[in-house]
Amino acid sequence: MRTPIIAGNWKLNQNPEETTAFVEAIKDKLPASSKVESVIAAPAVDLPALLAAAKGSELKTAAENAYFEDKGAFTGETSPLVLSQMGINYVVIGHSERRDYFHETDEDINKKAHALFRNNLTPIICCGESLETREAGKETEWVVGQIKAALKDLTAEQVSQSVIAYEPIWAIGTGKTASSEQAQEMCKAIRDAVSDLYNEETAANVRIQYGGSVKPENVKELMAKPDIDGGLVGGASLEPESFLALVNYQ
Ligand code: G3P
Repeated sequence: MRTPIIAGNWKLNQNPEETTAFVEAIKDKLPASSKVESVIAAPAVDLPALLAAAKGSELKTAAENAYFEDKGAFTGETSPLVLSQMGINYVVIGHSERRDYFHETDEDINKKAHALFRNNLTPIICCGESLETREAGKETEWVVGQIKAALKDLTAEQVSQSVIAYEPIWAIGTGKTASSEQAQEMCKAIRDAVSDLYNEETAANVRIQYGGSVKPENVKELMAKPDIDGGLVGGASLEPESFLALVNYQ
């Protein structure tokens, strides 16, 4: 019932030429998007190239961030209104790198979620705990707190359409993947929290990804877990062969 969604998050990698070459190399080998959704989240400067190359293919497009205002005196920001006008499908918000290096707060992330829905864009809402929080045994409380704050005042229908990405910070770019059991446990806790906040139907609809050192070797095991509906992938999404192996995991 929930369509799996595998998204590459390129972070600050690739230029427009590399973006075009990447999409040309993969676009005829992607699964039908009704079976598995394949998404690339690219830096803002690459989005025109991504959209042009992906046109008519099964590839969905994402921005890695957007501001919560549509226009005005906000130097250096990316407008959600313009992303929507360009034809972008998804926007990643609340990535731990944005929270840590750019001091984004739970409140900012909630405002961004509202801004995206106002512009008919779908958020991929990231959450995840640090190693310190996990070692203190407070990871579930922490992640559920982030989710509650991010979803504040969204409707059940909006949450049903949303994608949530659970990315434990200690597993990002470290080669250290959470075990499939740890990933499943947290994705289930997130779904239970959505059920408590909204209802069972909303919880059954929301798609939850795991992120943190996902690669072709472990994607199948992670995707076999009942509450894991996808992956948000950094390093292993940068090469066409590796990205294709991820989206064609079935
Ligand atoms: O958003 C994806 C991410 O942070 C995980 O990165 O390189 O561990 O797959 P990586």
